[in-house]
Amino acid sequence: MKDTLFIKGGKPLNGKVRVSGAKNAGLVIMAASIMAEGETILDNLPRIRDVEVMIQILNEIGAQTRWNEDNSLSIIVDPSKIKTRTSYELAKRLRASNLFLGAMLGCSGEAVISMPGGCDIGSRPMDLHIKGLQALGAQTQIEHGYIYACANTPGGARVYLDFPSVGATENIIMMAARTPGTSIIENAAKEPEIVDLANYLNSMGARIRGAGTDVIKVEGAQKLTAGRYAIIPDRIEAGTYMISAAITGGEVLVENVIPTHLHPIIAKLQETGARVEENDQGIVVKAGPYIRPVDIKTLPYPGFPTDMQSQMMALLCISQGSSIIVENVFENRFQIVDELKRMGAKIKVEGHTAVVEGVSKLCGARVKATDLRAGAALVLGALVADGETEIDNAIHIFRGYENLTDKLISLGAEVK
Ligand code: EPZ
Repeated sequence: MKDTLFIKGGKPLNGKVRVSGAKNAGLVIMAASIMAEGETILDNLPRIRDVEVMIQILNEIGAQTRWNEDNSLSIIVDPSKIKTRTSYELAKRLRASNLFLGAMLGCSGEAVISMPGGCDIGSRPMDLHIKGLQALGAQTQIEHGYIYACANTPGGARVYLDFPSVGATENIIMMAARTPGTSIIENAAKEPEIVDLANYLNSMGARIRGAGTDVIKVEGAQKLTAGRYAIIPDRIEAGTYMISAAITGGEVLVENVIPTHLHPIIAKLQETGARVEENDQGIVVKAGPYIRPVDIKTLPYPGFPTDMQSQMMALLCISQGSSIIVENVFENRFQIVDELKRMGAKIKVEGHTAVVEGVSKLCGARVKATDLRAGAALVLGALVADGETEIDNAIHIFRGYENLTDKLISLGAEVK
């Protein structure tokens, strides 16, 4: 039962909510921290399950960690004690464990990483990661579900990514940061989390230029020095709470955001008729008189984020017309459709396209979260549905949303 969320819908959400640190920046920066000897202190890291699992992996490979009084996390690294291997048991619980590949190759020249499992949103291969790391001199072999990699004579290189993969860009940046010579990554991912990783590594003495654009240049540094760094706010958590106001007919101030990171989400939300304003506290979202249907195509940043696709689908379920959603990033990210249909939604899926026909209302039902963002979208649907919704596998949601229940209750939702 502990993994089940019960939500009684029908109440407009009003008030203010503070966004936590970004999961997808924190996880990669935690992996990168093993590249510098000494104590790294990370501020604004969300206390979510994925961060807790990443802490277990850091401990397993020999780093010490400590949550401090001020809620920062200390990661103490003695390079002589770092084991360059992650176990299947822990890696299977967290795909981001694959980000140790680049960090370990960068600081130790070798790595044995358990292949991260696919999950409900797609097969999630690592071919682009491997191609980029091989260009920098890594030899790799995949056997028994592990990637064995070593780089005896690593050297800077030029890498062109067929697809601007976030993880591949991050792994290549981390290896390049400690690889002698100059590396250039073209068609790199431009997500804000990539910029945060580059800023963190540069604060430790790395020389990375161009993060946030599609060409990133890295001068390999001999040594990196541990220090203190604050993680950026989570733009996907922010977007999720912005939709919670629009879908329930309320008004919510979302605090602790970086507005530029939210522009693709703000633009789309305004198209649906919500009123969205930036002020010096954050972003205020006020629901419009009704929800207009809109079309959505997910794309790499700065396009509309795939991690917001399910949440927008929930909103469009009660719009005044038909919307077309095209998922261009993952090959299987419509798992939520069957669950929303149990709540009365009218959605048809053809390959990468979903057609959402707005209905007048959703009804509470027993549903299950298939992945983190689908779970978040079911929460949004439940907040506006008539009656009570029971969401099973809610553990998926707690992976990426810090204090979800408390934050929703503070906005007036009936959640337990
Ligand atoms: C990161 O995953 C995020 N996770 C995902 O967030 C996010 O959805 C995704 O980027 C896209 O923005 C973390 O940062 C921990 P990709 P990642 O490599 O790096 C294909 C969430 O909910 N691909 O950009 O795994 C891949 O199959 C999670 O917080 C290859 O084909 O995403 C996918 O179709 C979900 N070969 C597409 O690229 C490769 O070698 C995008 O994947 C790598 C990726």
